Amino acid sequence: MKRSVHPFFAILLLIVFALTLSSGILIRRSGGFSSIEVEKPSLILQKKVPVFNSTLLKYAAIDIGEVQAQHEIEELLEGNFDSRGRYRSFATWRRFNHHEIKARTSKGIPVMLRSPEFYRYWLDFRRALHDWSRKKRYQPEIMDELIGLVKAPIDRHNGLVGSERRYGSCAVVGNSGILMKDEYGELIDGHEVVIRLNNARTERYERNVGAKTNISFVNSNILHLCGRRQGCFCHPYGDNVPMVMYICQPAHFLDYTVCNSSHNAPLVVTDPRFDVLCARIVKYYSLKRFVEDTGKSLDEWGSAHDGSVFHYSSGLQAVMLAVGICDKVSIFGFGKSASARHHYHTNQKAELKLHDYEAEYHFYHDLVNNPQLIPFIRDTFKFPAAVIYQ
Ligand SMILES: *[C@@H]1O[C@H](CO)[C@@H](O)[C@H](O)[C@H]1NC(C)=O
Ligand SMILES: *[C@@H]1O[C@H](CO)[C@@H](O)[C@H](O)[C@H]1NC(C)=O
Ligand SMILES: *[C@@H]1O[C@H](CO)[C@@H](O)[C@H](O)[C@H]1NC(C)=O
Repeated sequence: MKRSVHPFFAILLLIVFALTLSSGILIRRSGGFSSIEVEKPSLILQKKVPVFNSTLLKYAAIDIGEVQAQHEIEELLEGNFDSRGRYRSFATWRRFNHHEIKARTSKGIPVMLRSPEFYRYWLDFRRALHDWSRKKRYQPEIMDELIGLVKAPIDRHNGLVGSERRYGSCAVVGNSGILMKDEYGELIDGHEVVIRLNNARTERYERNVGAKTNISFVNSNILHLCGRRQGCFCHPYGDNVPMVMYICQPAHFLDYTVCNSSHNAPLVVTDPRFDVLCARIVKYYSLKRFVEDTGKSLDEWGSAHDGSVFHYSSGLQAVMLAVGICDKVSIFGFGKSASARHHYHTNQKAELKLHDYEAEYHFYHDLVNNPQLIPFIRDTFKFPAAVIYQ
């Protein structure tokens, strides 16, 4: 007798299969959000495809300062450090290395080749800057590469075999004065990895900000300032703490080449594709807010925000880094209140004009509540659960 499946059983099997699949999705979806907020069941089953406003996307993709930056990079690669007296960083670097540069070739390249040490730095600098500027473009896949680019070198430094695993939990500690109203220190230190910003100190503030630091995230202005000192003193957390830095000005690669050779732990420059991604996201939120709040046209955004120097804050990129390398992200010390200082550890009064913190808060809100609404990220990217403590 020939054995065959009765149509009734075939259909039953199909239904069971379909149910298993959909419940699997249910578990994974709700699992992903369990520590944020309980989602409405109806939202879980619907596949939400966010519709991004294409005009905003287009405007957010324009980098107003791009031409000028490219010109600056070309000048630097040619050796023109003092055009318009702007590249002070080179003068600084030269001073603490006891070099004097007087003669130049017709193309402006310093004639310092008799010093092998200078020549080595010079080659390193040019190579680093050249590679960096070539990679500077939009490529959303970069979010999936952060583990290999940032976590892997740190793992190797700690004697671990690099793995594709994300950190279990990360605390990103911003520097807002609002940290002083709660004692989150223990909670912060309870995370597997603590990321701190721009060398903010922890001594005397441990109860509020915690004491441990696993990644020191800085912008290159910070490195430039501490790079002035002999031996590149730039490690308030100790020179065994890995640093991640984004480049504010291409000339800062000089500080990087000097400091990279003296830092014990990895000193990782953020991938320029990651910088471009962060810039676009923040600009999208800023443009949106600008039109909604002022009713003006998108073309007026540039003059209202000094478009060519507009920049995301260090804190934003540190959070984005955590989003790429951690399974859970807790955000502390981001936000402001009338009664709190701008920074918990300084007396700086005002916010910097070149950032749009309000726009960044909107981004954090989406990250915690509805990460699918964040533009420029591929829909295959798996967002971690995120919480913000304010
Ligand atoms: C996109 O956003 C701009 C600015 O907010 C707005 O003027 C425009 O109507 C929006 N377009 C769509 C299709 O929603
Ligand atoms: C984080 O820092 C603490 C304190 O220095 C250290 O004990 C711990 O191993 C670090 N964790 C990771 C994952 O690097
Ligand atoms: C920075 O230093 C590390 C370790 O010494 C080295 O492997 C790396 O190539 C350096 N990076 C650059 C761009 O010189």
